[in-house]
Amino acid sequence: MKITSAEFVMSNSNVAKCPNEPLPEYAFIGRSNVGKSSLINMLMDRKHLAKTSGRPGKTQLINHFKINKNWFLVDLPGYGYARVSKKDKKTFQKYITEYFLKRKQLVCGFVLVDIRHEPQPVDVEFMEWLGTNGIPFSLVFTKADKLKPGAIDNYVKTYLNKLLEGAWEETPPHFVTSSSKHMGRESLLGYIDNINQEFFAS
Ligand code: GTP
Ligand code: MG
Repeated sequence: MKITSAEFVMSNSNVAKCPNEPLPEYAFIGRSNVGKSSLINMLMDRKHLAKTSGRPGKTQLINHFKINKNWFLVDLPGYGYARVSKKDKKTFQKYITEYFLKRKQLVCGFVLVDIRHEPQPVDVEFMEWLGTNGIPFSLVFTKADKLKPGAIDNYVKTYLNKLLEGAWEETPPHFVTSSSKHMGRESLLGYIDNINQEFFAS
């Protein structure tokens, strides 16, 4: 898919106030610092569209970006970040869960996990929660540049096998990405493009 336009639309803490156009929407979620905002910039080929930081907790609101004038990308705050105050953390969790439960336009969530780590309880719990609530999602491994190219397949296999040892009967679709190396861009955009085409055909 060619990106012809990518515009920031609004930031929000209230799902009810998010854009109400009936366009397909994709949301990026995962622990703080996993690389959600960086991945959005990489996919859009724009350095500063979404705000990134080396310090966890940078993205604090629901951020809508309108792409090619006919679909939305959403940058969300991270979950499971211990250094924000308890009150803030609760707020994050509340609008994250509300967003996923109430956002009718959402066609797919992307759950981002750092490729170097084995499944973390908070990620597994969040994926299980999405599954229980019937919310479609895919898994995105980030920071693949941190591994030697030959090691990537093994890390992915090990991660997916661990999911299967848990409550999972099958693993979600998955993508291997690196924002610094522009890796995984074509396959992720192609995946989104296919869903968009189905959306507009129906
Ligand atoms: P919050 O908004 O705080 O939840 O974080 P986030 O998930 O949006 O992460 P962000 O994109 O801000 O990136 C966090 C840090 O990871 C930054 O220092 C990025 O430069 C770094 N980073 C993100 N993606 C990659 C990647 O693909 N490779 C490498 N090496 N570093 C990355
Ligand atoms: Mg962010």
